[in-house]
Amino acid sequence: MININDGVRLTQNINSKMIKGNFILYNSKIGVEAEINYLTYQIIKKVNECIVRNMDELYKLTKRYSRNTNQIIKQLFNYKILSVCDKKNINKNILPVKRVKYPLSYLALELTDNCNLNCIHCYGQFGRYKQYSNLTYEYLKSIKKDIDLLHTRSIALTGGEVLTHKEFEKIAMFFLKNGFNVVIFSNGYNYKRMENFLELSKDYHMTIKISIDGLNNTHNLIRGRKNSYENAIKMLDILKKYDNVDTDISTVIMRENLKEIDELIDIIKNRYPKFTHQLDIISPILNARKNQSLFTLSEIQKIYNRYPKVFLQESPIGLQKYRCTGGVTSAAISSSKVLKICVGAEDPEFQLGDLNKDSLLNIWKHPSSNGKRFRQEGSHDSYKCKKCSLKKKCNTVNCRLLAQGYKNDSSMPNPLTCMAERIKQSENNF
Ligand SMILES: C[S@@+](CC[C@H](N)C(=O)[O-])C[C@H]1O[C@@H](n2cnc3c(N)ncnc32)[C@H](O)[C@@H]1O
Ligand code: SF4
Ligand code: SF4
Repeated sequence: MININDGVRLTQNINSKMIKGNFILYNSKIGVEAEINYLTYQIIKKVNECIVRNMDELYKLTKRYSRNTNQIIKQLFNYKILSVCDKKNINKNILPVKRVKYPLSYLALELTDNCNLNCIHCYGQFGRYKQYSNLTYEYLKSIKKDIDLLHTRSIALTGGEVLTHKEFEKIAMFFLKNGFNVVIFSNGYNYKRMENFLELSKDYHMTIKISIDGLNNTHNLIRGRKNSYENAIKMLDILKKYDNVDTDISTVIMRENLKEIDELIDIIKNRYPKFTHQLDIISPILNARKNQSLFTLSEIQKIYNRYPKVFLQESPIGLQKYRCTGGVTSAAISSSKVLKICVGAEDPEFQLGDLNKDSLLNIWKHPSSNGKRFRQEGSHDSYKCKKCSLKKKCNTVNCRLLAQGYKNDSSMPNPLTCMAERIKQSENNF
């Protein structure tokens, strides 16, 4: 029998047209994502639904949809989409085509508001509540049907700290087995538990993001617990051994670590040459809005000049129709089951609906009035953008939360976007 392998998930891409088709094929066993057309989608769907006994039958079936039979079959085997087995298996993650206007392609899950560290820059109150709320395995399993109907392809597991959630392993394995592109955020403090999970999940591919916010003493000071640097480094050393994991080190630049950033970049480059290193600037959101570690806009301008890596947040789809993907093709579920446009978006303005009262599918189809507005809002609709000479090429992510944080008005452009565009576009002129 020819089957579609476990770990393969086929979802619809944004604004997919039925005939020309635009689908995303992902295999969590090898971590490869490919865009495919409607005809290839049909071949995969038919192989999944019908009994295809041998290669001859596979050639006949493929021929009905495409003239490039040999090439398509070769690629499907190369990407480990197809395999030959004794019995017929049906893959439940080859999703039926629905006219989903806004596929919820990226969903972040705040598994818990508990945390084992106490970081000075954190936008959340994580770890400081009398009682913690958690998204349970049973709950997440119960919303998988809606997640499928919305064609979600990437799941981020975050918190708080995911390694304080008692069902973390079970939840992560559930999404890996169902072919999601899984990204895990952790402070790396509980490296032993993560090491056990890495052994358990060896057959799957994933991305793990570990925070390092300075050299030893500074990191510990920022993160509010001794040994947090030592443990995070142990975590990174363990991750070096796992080829199935793409590791990304996240550093938030703030007043306390600014002087050490160059040294930190060098240390990471030398010790972890295969890992990526993402630099960000402390954001004035939620709990961090009046934080002593924040920079003024003119200080940020200097930091941008020095570390152009913080420019990397360009829109993944180039010049885009929408202002940002939050509420349009991406969202987050808080540990208390509120659907919001992204993880830091606790403010009621950014909430799409309450999952304690309604289903994910209903809320996504009929979001709050603000949610509807976000879907209507084009990338340069604000009066400031309309008058701006940079708008034709402007494609840095224009975050509503940062506009709210810096300008007290989420409908304004984010000043960091404008800063990045000014530098980028003037460089292009030389
Ligand atoms: C909320 S944490 C959750 C994952 C995990 N506990 C950790 O610390 O990596 C996710 C990321 O957000 C970053 N972060 C927290 N507060 C921030 C802020 N005010 N501005 C920018 N990044 C922030 C953290 O440094 C971390 O890299
Ligand atoms: S940044 Fe991460 S580790 Fe630090 S307090 Fe926030 S959730 Fe916890
Ligand atoms: S640079 Fe700023 S004002 Fe100009 S188009 Fe981009 S976001 Fe709008």
